[in-house]
Amino acid sequence: MHYHPARLNQKKRDGEALSPAEIQDLVAGVVDGSLHDAQLGAFLMAVCLRGMTPSETAALTLAMRDSGALLARCGDQPRIDKHSTGGVGDKTSLLLAPLVALCSVHVPMISGRGLGHTGGTIDKLEAIPGYRTALDLPTFDAVLRDCGFAMAQASADIAPADRRMYATRDVSGTVESIPLITSSILSKKLAENLDGLVMDVKCGRAAFMKDAADADRLLQSIVDVGAAAGLRVTALRTDMDHPLGLALGNALEIVEIIEASQGRGPADMVSLTVELGVEMLLLAGVEQQAASARSRLSKLLSSGAVARALQQNFERQGGDPRVVDDPSRLGRAPHLVPVPALRSGVVLDVDPLALGHAVVDLGGGRRAPADKVDPLVGIVLQRVRGERVEKGAPLAFVHARTAAAAAAAARTVAAAMPLGEVAEPRLPLVQRRATGGPVR
Ligand code: URA
Repeated sequence: MHYHPARLNQKKRDGEALSPAEIQDLVAGVVDGSLHDAQLGAFLMAVCLRGMTPSETAALTLAMRDSGALLARCGDQPRIDKHSTGGVGDKTSLLLAPLVALCSVHVPMISGRGLGHTGGTIDKLEAIPGYRTALDLPTFDAVLRDCGFAMAQASADIAPADRRMYATRDVSGTVESIPLITSSILSKKLAENLDGLVMDVKCGRAAFMKDAADADRLLQSIVDVGAAAGLRVTALRTDMDHPLGLALGNALEIVEIIEASQGRGPADMVSLTVELGVEMLLLAGVEQQAASARSRLSKLLSSGAVARALQQNFERQGGDPRVVDDPSRLGRAPHLVPVPALRSGVVLDVDPLALGHAVVDLGGGRRAPADKVDPLVGIVLQRVRGERVEKGAPLAFVHARTAAAAAAAARTVAAAMPLGEVAEPRLPLVQRRATGGPVR
């Protein structure tokens, strides 16, 4: 070994910047196994404590991208993706991919599973009977060509350095680091060979970034490092202080997506999807003005075309296409329990973190990486913050595997949705926008 991992760790520990060549050596050691777990853990902790300059973060991102394959380009369509830092009820990817693909933009959506209390697109898709999320690269390309969008997990050949680094961060207390989060996300997105990326940086109680200042630091880091790597990025800071949409839980969220694809989605979820879609169309250059992009997307959503595009994709990826016309084919959890309001009043709050944990406790998320997820369980809200409810009317329905799990979740939901007289207004859905990267 011509490089000396302990010396590089000492350098970072003492607050010095590493050169691109040193970073490339470290990442090569991550992939070929010559860097030991202890050395990798120490490196990650040094980065957590000392940070990285934007050019170090860019070098790390590119080295991680180059640790694996680059998706091939197919066709002349612009290629744009969207990525979110994760939230509760955030199912926008599943609606955005077909919506934007209908505007002649290719959307190669490589997504993740749920993490902690946050949901993941791959777990949601796997609630569709037969749907395959593990696609090899030629199949992924073929689906992308045929449907204009493909939705899959990162295969082992996409940024393999991130797999080992992410797993090590998870067990070493080094997840919360802006350079590490930036390089982890962007290395996988750059491997998709994109023309542009829309980044949804969630902010609030149920987000990775709880306050606006932290969310803005991540947002700017992603825009700047994207620019340094030659990628045009538009990043939005969006609200995660309230669940997005009404359905929380994998199959229940697919039902909400199907309804939204037919023009019947909850206002907040549809509105955020359209705003993210506007940014994707602007980055793609297929629309020049936000207002015309917004009206094009809104018309498409009420036309029924998105439902047909979803159906085509479900079939192409092995899923049951009949669920689009008959969502009851997804199945139903055995216990459906209402959570009644204990008094008449206004919903003062809907705590997304408490509800995200309640879905995990129902079996809809994981406590350990090997846990199996129950696709059918979850919660469907009947009211959002600021809405009135009469005593005895349902605040939400709980879908559970057992009566005991349903009762426990119902208690959590009731506590997460206090009632009173006057609610504070909900925070704006889109709170900040930043854009950067090479000019088209
Ligand atoms: N998502 C990722 O892919 N990586 C992170 O580090 C955080 C969120």
